[in-house]
Formats: sequence, structure tokens, C-alpha cells
Amino acid sequence: MSTSKAKTYRPETRLVHAGTLRSQFGETSEALFLTQGYIYPSAEECEARFSGKIPGYVYSRYSNPTMSMFEQRIAALEGAEAARSTATGMAAVTNALMGLVKAGDHVVAAKALFGSCRWVIEEWLPRFGVAFALVDGTDLAQWKAAVRKETKVFFLETPTNPTLEVIDIAAVADIARDAGARLVVDNVFATPLYQSPLALGADVVVYSATKHIDGQGRVLGGVILGSEKVILDNYHQLLRQTGPSLSPFNAWVLLKALETLPVRVERQTANAGAAANALAGHKKISRLIYPGRADHPQADIIKKQMRAGSTLVAFEIKGGKEGAFRFLNALRLIGITNNLGDAKSLITHPTTTTHQRLTPAQRAELGIGDGLVRLSAGLEHPDDLIEDLLTALEAV
Ligand SMILES: Cc1ncc(COP(=O)(O)O)c(C=O)c1O
Repeated sequence: MSTSKAKTYRPETRLVHAGTLRSQFGETSEALFLTQGYIYPSAEECEARFSGKIPGYVYSRYSNPTMSMFEQRIAALEGAEAARSTATGMAAVTNALMGLVKAGDHVVAAKALFGSCRWVIEEWLPRFGVAFALVDGTDLAQWKAAVRKETKVFFLETPTNPTLEVIDIAAVADIARDAGARLVVDNVFATPLYQSPLALGADVVVYSATKHIDGQGRVLGGVILGSEKVILDNYHQLLRQTGPSLSPFNAWVLLKALETLPVRVERQTANAGAAANALAGHKKISRLIYPGRADHPQADIIKKQMRAGSTLVAFEIKGGKEGAFRFLNALRLIGITNNLGDAKSLITHPTTTTHQRLTPAQRAELGIGDGLVRLSAGLEHPDDLIEDLLTALEAV
């Protein structure tokens, strides 16, 4: 099935069929092309492929059939003209930003970002003469006020990590367009199933494929998606020449994982919703944030831009870090980690892990209290999950 034909099918169907390149052996399951390079039938063809006169693979740092299958399958789901895969989510984020700026430019980003993304903006880009402003992503006036004539990029993630705050993508995209800047959206928490930033006006979407896309804790990966022009003008050469390429093996794992993405994410979302409902109003919890509940502070924006809730729930345990640690240590089923989006339910204490680099004042500004934990619901039976959570709360 060609990618263009795949666009006419519903998402679940595209995720099983889109992008398949079948070899002469007619295999059912896509092949893993574990090769660094390619042999050409003649020196003339080698020359023509290198010059781009005839299409074809030349070196797996540039591309590889298994990488292409993964890229085309996720592009078909996202509704993007083009995609480029990377070794990790951070390689995708870093290159998505670096590809759009040069010395003297300026970036505006929401301050509620995954810790490493914030490091790239605050510590890495300035080394190359790229200035930045961090804003409260939910306050549209702050995006507008931060714009300078040198502003080239707006960057945000929504729902945010870890407080599951939601930013109005279409409204920020309008401000970016008026400013002549490109909007890059990290769509990891929403997944391509629940939110389509390109359709809402974003120019570039990035994923850590490590999270829900693999969804089984096996491999790292990332992907950058956008129009053919945005990808060719800004990323094609950058990625080929600097080499943050996805390994073909990881591309194969991620390609096959896409086939089951909707089944997994729907079940994980149902589990997260059930856990949120069981925890809401619990006497040991001071605050609960779940994008699928009517009491989410930005429920109106969620209705407008997301197709469903989330596989993640954030909640604040009474008693600060001590209370949170007592709760975490009493869990028997749910694993303590910094990761998310897995078949196994996982829980994170952002203050001491993903957001440890921030000062207490910076964390307070983002609503990351010492008692805050972020649950990533897995595929277990919801009753087992809820029993583990409620039993562990008794230890607080
Ligand atoms: C929102 C978000 N963006 C980017 C990343 C980076 O992804 P990776 O760990 O695959 O580099 C993460 C990882 O935790 C994340 O949560």
C-alpha cells in the first residue's frame, strides 16, 4: 500500500499497512534491513545515485529501507508530508530546533518543558549565539510580548511534563505566524492518536518514540515531522551530515510497535482515567490533574484540540517529598522510574528526577511540588492498578 493511498484509510489501518516496502521474498512482516551500505549494479548507477539523479539508498546514516518504512508509517498517521527518524527523542528535539536557527536568532519557549528540552534552550542554544525567552505557555499575552524581530522559533509541549497543563496550539500558532516564526510542538504526551499539531497550525512535530510508540520499554528513538519543504530546507542535510540516525534495528522495533499503538494507548488511557477517578478526592492527595476529567483547569482547550484524555495522571501527595517517597516505596506493582508510556505502569517523582536541575523556585513556578508524582498507566487490569495505588496511599 503506497503512502498516498494510505492517507484515505483510518488511523488504525494506516498504522498496520502504511509505508510497507515488500522485498522480492514477499514477507508478511516487514524486513529488518540490518545493513550499513548498498552495492550498486554498476559504477554509472553508483554515480547517478550519489548525485541524486536516480533515487535509491546510498548509506544508512542517510536512510535505510527499515527507517523509511517507520518514517512513512508515522507520517501517514500524523498527516505529515515528510518525516525523519533520529536515535532518540532528544536528538529529534535538538535537531528540530538547531535546524531552524542561526547565530543572532531568538527562540521563545514555554517554560513547562521536559528537563533536557529546557537544557537545550537555556544552556545549549546560547553557546551558538541563539537567545531565548521562557514564557508561561498558557498565557497568550506572554508569547506575544516575548517576540523580537530576531524570533525564528516558538517551542512548546502539551500536555506538559509533568503537570499535564495544556497549551492552546492553534492560538500560539497564530502568534508565531504573525511573528514570522516557526512553531515546533513536542507531542509526546498526547501521542499522534490524540492530537495533530500540524493540523492546528504547527510547522514541525517531534516525538520521543521511546515513549508510547515503542511502548514496551525496549528501544530509544525519535522523529521529526513536517511538510516536505520544511523537512528538506531545514533538516535533510543537517541530519545526513551530522548523523543522529536511528539504528535500523530500532526502526524495525518501532515500525512493528506502531501496529499496536492504538490498542495499547486506548487501554492505557482507560486505565489512567480509572486510576484518576479512584484517586480524585482521596484524603492523602491535595491535587489531581488528568486531561480526561471535566475538572482539568483547561478542559475547554482539551475539548478543542485533543481527541481523548491521556495515559498519564499527575497528583500531589500530602506531606511533600517524605509523603511522596513513603507512597512510592509502598507500591508493589507500579515501578518507580523516570520513563513513561510503557505497557508496565510506571511512576515518577519529578522533583528528584526529570526536573531535579531546576531550582525549588523554578519548580514552584511550574506547579511541581515536592509531593507531586506522575503516573504512567500501563496495560495491567485496572483493578490491580487501583488496588496498588490505594494500598500504597495507606502508608502515607
Ligand atoms: C516530553 C518529552 N520530550 C522529549 C523526551 C526525550 O526523549 P528521549 O528520552 O527518547 O531522548 C522526553 C523523554 O522523557 C519527553 O518526556
